[in-house]
Order: sequence, then C-alpha cells, then structure tokens
Amino acid sequence: MANINYGSTKNPNNRAPYAKKILAITSGKGGVGKSTVSTNLSVALAQLGFKVGLLDADVYGPDTTRMLGVENERIKWGEGEKENKMIPSFNYGIKIMSVALTLPEDDTPLVWRSSVAISALVQFLEDVDWGELDYLVIDMPPGTGDVQLTIAEELPIFSAIIVTTPQVVSSDDVGRAIRMYQDIGVSIGGIVENMSYFIAPDNGNRYDIFGKGGGEYLAKRYGVKLLGKIPLLMDIRELGDMGTPPVADKRDEISQHYKKIAKDIADIS
Ligand SMILES: Nc1ncnc2c1ncn2[C@@H]1O[C@H](COP(=O)(O)OP(=O)(O)O)[C@@H](O)[C@H]1O
Ligand SMILES: [Mg+2]
Repeated sequence: MANINYGSTKNPNNRAPYAKKILAITSGKGGVGKSTVSTNLSVALAQLGFKVGLLDADVYGPDTTRMLGVENERIKWGEGEKENKMIPSFNYGIKIMSVALTLPEDDTPLVWRSSVAISALVQFLEDVDWGELDYLVIDMPPGTGDVQLTIAEELPIFSAIIVTTPQVVSSDDVGRAIRMYQDIGVSIGGIVENMSYFIAPDNGNRYDIFGKGGGEYLAKRYGVKLLGKIPLLMDIRELGDMGTPPVADKRDEISQHYKKIAKDIADIS
C-alpha cells in the first residue's frame, strides 16, 4: 500500500515540552468508547503513580468533564506570573482541560470552523498550567481529519491507542485511522476492543451484541497489539454518566480491565 504524504507530520513541533509522553486515544469512529477509555486509563495511570493530564480534543462533543465529575466547573485563570495561564480542573488525581470548561452552559453548542477549533486546542496545549506531566492523554474526536493531522503536526505523539468495537463497520473505520497513523509515522501502542461482549446478569449467558473478533482482525491485519477487551457493562455507562469513572470507584472487576491496559501502556518504551 502506497504511503501518502500528509504534510509536515514526520518532524512534528512540540507544543507540550512539559509532557514526557503523549498518548492519543483515537478511533476512526464515534461512540466506540474513546472518552470512557481516555478517562479510565488516565485515572489508572495516575493510580500507578504517574502525573497525568487529560486534554479533551473532541471539541464538538466534549464528554470528559461529565465523565470526571467536573462538568459544573468553569475555566479559572492563574495569578501573578501565571495570570495568562488557564488552570486545569483536577479530579481523581488527574488534570483535565476541555472546551466544555469554557462554555456558558453545558448545552451551549460549539459552532466553530475547524480552524477555530484547532486554535483553541493549540491554546490548551500552550496556555494551560499543566505543570510537569508523565503523560498527556488526548481524547481525540472521531475520524481522520483536521484535528488528527494538526495534533500529529504539533506534538510528538508517543503512542496512539486505538479504540474499536468488535463489529465490522467499526473495524472498517478504525482500519482507516490505523492506516493514517501508520502513514504519518505515529507509533501505535495497541488496540482496545470495547463493548466486546455482554454477560447477562440474570443468567450469566454471554452475548456478542456488537459481533466478535474485530479487535483480533485489526491487530492481525495491521500488525498491532491487542491490548485488551472491555465488556459492555451497564455500570461502565452509569458510572460515566455519574462522573465517577469505574477505575476511581474501585470496582475491581471493572477496573482490572483498564488497569491491565494502563500497565501495558506504561511498559511501552
Ligand atoms: N464498555 C462499556 N460498557 C457500557 N457502556 C459503555 C462502555 N464504553 C462506553 N460506554 C458508553 O457508550 C457511550 C459512548 O462512549 P464514549 O466513551 O462517549 O465514546 P466516544 O468517545 O468514542 O464517542 C457512552 O455513553 C459510554 O458511557
Ligand atoms: Mg468522546
């Protein structure tokens, strides 16, 4: 397959020199669980002792503030020397920055051209008081477009973590995202198959609601590691809506899935 030249992504700028490693949590598709994985992995990495910042780059659908229980907070500015710096929100051991923290109301629609969205993201990289970070985790918007390319041009991404569901239409879209990252020379840390299976609480039967095998198929086809499979669980959805990520809620049977993936990511050298 021919490589396509997407521009200046091979030698990216570094707008976040304060971060040792930058992780892009990404997928070709929406609704597959990027934000849920981003928030839980960030908290799991913080629990491992790392300094973690989470940047919500999905400016048109910023969900991480609700998932982390800071949806009522609004942007704060620093004082003194830091008066031009935005102070990120903080919860569950991680720093959080999202366009949602700048909106007058939580349902204010953001009707921005992509050039404006990109300027906002650059500002969040440069003008937020992140401090020193071991990991800057970026919750990416769906697709393979402007934001993905700009992030790859402006940041040395350490690793892209690809989220998919097991189903074929997800694998199709996600395959395109994997190829984009491979073409622009971003290393892919692995695939997380989310909503992999459902165990009925009443009879213990397993149902493959979104099909089966998408993660394995992508891993094999693109030579990428399958980091883990996270089941479809009502608690994951409920806790996300409540602003308490399962990893922070210490639900061991759910947390273990994210913690294992966080450990594997921490082992990537
Ligand atoms: N493993 C899971 N089990 C149950 N619900 C999930 C799971 N992962 C994500 N969800 C729910 O699915 C919806 C979409 O997930 P989200 O993380 O917002 O996806 P994305 O960021 O890719 O659009 C959310 O309501 C979330 O709570
Ligand atoms: Mg999202």
